[in-house]
Amino acid sequence: MAKDNKKRSPVVKPNASTSGLEVEKLNAEIERLKKELKKRKKYGLVWEPKDEEVIEMCKEKLPVLKEVKNKEIISDKDKPVNLLIEGDNYHALSVLNYTHAKKVDVIYIDPPYNTGSSKWIYNNKYVDSEDAFRHSKWLSFMFKRLKLARNLLKDNGVIICTIDDYEIHSLGLLMDEVFGENNRMSILVIESNPRGRTSNAFFATSHEYYLFYGRNALKCKIEEQPLNEEQSAAFKYKDDISYYRLLPMRKSGAASRRNERPKQFYPIYVNKDTLKLSMTKLSKNWEELLPIDESGEERVWKLGRENCEKYIQSGDVVAKRGRNGIKLYQKDRIKSGRKPKTMWIDPKYDASAHGTNLIAEILGKRNIFEYPKSLYAVIDSLKTIIRSNKNALVLDFFAGSGTTGHAVLELNKEDGGSRKFILCTSNEDNNGNGYKIATDICYPRIRNIIKGYQKIRGEKVEGLSGNLKYFKTNFVNAEPTDKNKIKLTAEATEMLCIKEGTFEKVLDQKNFKVFKNANHYTGIIFDQAAIPAFKKAIKHIKGKFSVYVFSLGDETFDDEFKDIKQKVQLSPIPEAILRVYRRIFK
Ligand SMILES: C[S@@+](CC[C@H](N)C(=O)[O-])C[C@H]1O[C@@H](n2cnc3c(N)ncnc32)[C@H](O)[C@@H]1O
Repeated sequence: MAKDNKKRSPVVKPNASTSGLEVEKLNAEIERLKKELKKRKKYGLVWEPKDEEVIEMCKEKLPVLKEVKNKEIISDKDKPVNLLIEGDNYHALSVLNYTHAKKVDVIYIDPPYNTGSSKWIYNNKYVDSEDAFRHSKWLSFMFKRLKLARNLLKDNGVIICTIDDYEIHSLGLLMDEVFGENNRMSILVIESNPRGRTSNAFFATSHEYYLFYGRNALKCKIEEQPLNEEQSAAFKYKDDISYYRLLPMRKSGAASRRNERPKQFYPIYVNKDTLKLSMTKLSKNWEELLPIDESGEERVWKLGRENCEKYIQSGDVVAKRGRNGIKLYQKDRIKSGRKPKTMWIDPKYDASAHGTNLIAEILGKRNIFEYPKSLYAVIDSLKTIIRSNKNALVLDFFAGSGTTGHAVLELNKEDGGSRKFILCTSNEDNNGNGYKIATDICYPRIRNIIKGYQKIRGEKVEGLSGNLKYFKTNFVNAEPTDKNKIKLTAEATEMLCIKEGTFEKVLDQKNFKVFKNANHYTGIIFDQAAIPAFKKAIKHIKGKFSVYVFSLGDETFDDEFKDIKQKVQLSPIPEAILRVYRRIFK
């Protein structure tokens, strides 16, 4: 501290009116007040930082992904490849920070709710209600992951995080901290348990919260929902602009009498043949209309004179001939959709019927997983962001039983979309019944949804088709020795294919490999001496190449590729990966 003080120049300096002693006293007082201020709590969340083993280990081991080949599902090569990553999501998110920075349209997560019922593991131990640090542990855990997740969102990307009463207050402040209060888009309430949790002490909780935050809310869009049946029936007319209904131009009810709004009492003229309207009487054939009701009482129009004239010109005030003569109406317009409301109550959001029971049917076994979401709650919340974005990428890094993946496949089925998902989940036995969440629940669920399945009573359900690749997190030594860099490069092949979305192997040589998708190729060169052989091998392949060349430093080998620079985009590995990891694990 003393050292610190020496560096700082005094705030108050001696001048003609202050003696040196006074100045010294003033500066001492300023320092005292500064210290005092520092002691005070700032506004926001405060928690006890808790080290987490899976994070600490990244100082010594760097995460990579290893494919589990025998779990690959390819049922339609024209469809996108979805990913399921088994492992701790801190590691999966670290890898994705290299492969998918700013690539994700929506993150949907349903984290452990920290209810104290020993369902959530921290540092290899279940956290129960007796744990004095359980809120701090949960906040540390969520903070670290949300920070990594934010980097993955596109500028107009949105994160949806579900929660219930146990952590809603902490999560709200945490999300404000990580994403910024200005980027809070909404907090929905969804009735997920219509019966109510009767075991609660005071009220039977029947709802959960869905927090929506944009990476940059100004750039984000909430999609309108189609009109419901009632609205479609009411807004039955349509013109070039929109659907509309007709509401009487004459006001009724409160403040509708002439003496209450005298300026809104004026004549409007209607052509008796064509029903055209005008604010002036153009000829004898134009009839004067006044806002006088059936009992002869003078009332007012809904619009002032100026607005009325504008609306007549735009065709938004119209005349209709009825049994009691000509009447005026105003068009009340509705866009093709409406803004989603913040309270969602519908039997389809019941997590028991459309979550727990649905999984039982898909997997042919009851009581496998207790806390899935209703499939429809996930579908409908995703639709608020990506209804019209048929190529969206959706990430769920607390995937559990895989409802989010299932929802994306259903959305694509509805509209022929090509949306993709990335799911990450640990592989613990969440319910203590012997079923591991990644291998025994999430994976078989997605497989059955893609390929089709038989319900418990034998009814067959057709598959939605699609593709899935299964990865597990793996590790290489972090110490930046040449040997470890070579090892990281060798282990990074899957990561590079994921980054590029190129999964089809084209060439497989000892020192280089080539993969492709419908749009481009990825080349990985493990030894710079193999550059000429690589160039020769790709000479006759038409198309663009992302080429990753092994380098102990940051060399991009531009000179070696000068002659084909239009065809290739070069990156040095593992440096490009290490740069991201240095930022995260610093
Ligand atoms: C509440 S469940 C999500 C349920 C999911 N929305 C569904 O509908 O099936 C939370 C899941 O996150 C997983 N999980 C918890 N901590 C994790 C971690 N650190 N890394 C990866 N997954 C984790 C748990 O295994 C659990 O299955």
